Amino acid sequence: MKDDPNAHIICRDLFKIYKRAGLEVVALRGLDMEVATGEMVAILGSSGSGKSTLLNILAGLDKPSAGHIRVGTRDLLNISDAELVMYRRLDVGFVWQVPGRNLVPYLSAVENVSLPMAIAGVQKRERRKSAGDLLSALGLEGKLNRQPHQLSGGEQQRVAIALAIANSPPLLLADEPTGELDTESAAEVFRLLQSLLFLL
Ligand SMILES: Nc1ncnc2c1ncn2[C@@H]1O[C@H](COP(=O)(O)OP(=O)(O)OP(=O)(O)O)[C@@H](O)[C@H]1O
Ligand SMILES: [Mg+2]
Repeated sequence: MKDDPNAHIICRDLFKIYKRAGLEVVALRGLDMEVATGEMVAILGSSGSGKSTLLNILAGLDKPSAGHIRVGTRDLLNISDAELVMYRRLDVGFVWQVPGRNLVPYLSAVENVSLPMAIAGVQKRERRKSAGDLLSALGLEGKLNRQPHQLSGGEQQRVAIALAIANSPPLLLADEPTGELDTESAAEVFRLLQSLLFLL
């Protein structure tokens, strides 16, 4: 199959095999997938079907066992450690299910969102302003200086989304980002994720 040059993500015949204590678990078995630039995709499947495995690979947190996977210009199967660091820093944002896992607990919302910008080398004054603007755009003006434990679960996930998109990565991944939220907050976070398609 010929690769579509407009696709941002291409997976072909992708395999992930976990080996532990002599046991092999095939978590991905020949996955084919294409995602276009600007496209929003939801991945559905029963528990244990490999959704988190795929997201971890796309996030550059885990390596596939075999196959072909390209994100942007990067080949994630044959990527050097140095390139992987750059990929994680600039090319992808990630929102986890548990709000506490997304944020540094002793930093304020604005400090949390500033972190990835600091790592990318943005100057202090500029990153505080951008982080504040971004949080305000996501409806958190007035809560910039609160620490995660002073925010609701839904608000924490909104901060997590702001953190994940702080460096404007071309790819935003979210693994059950509303799994820990009540129905109303979940709907709000989903609306926010959808609106990002127009915001970014
Ligand atoms: N680090 C690991 N070591 C060994 N096996 C693993 C590891 N991580 C996941 N697995 C196995 O790989 C398979 C896929 O797991 P994965 O977490 O990707 O599923 P999932 O679709 O995200 O499930 P859920 O909906 O419950 O979150 C499962 O059989 C799981 O037990
Ligand atoms: Mg999962």
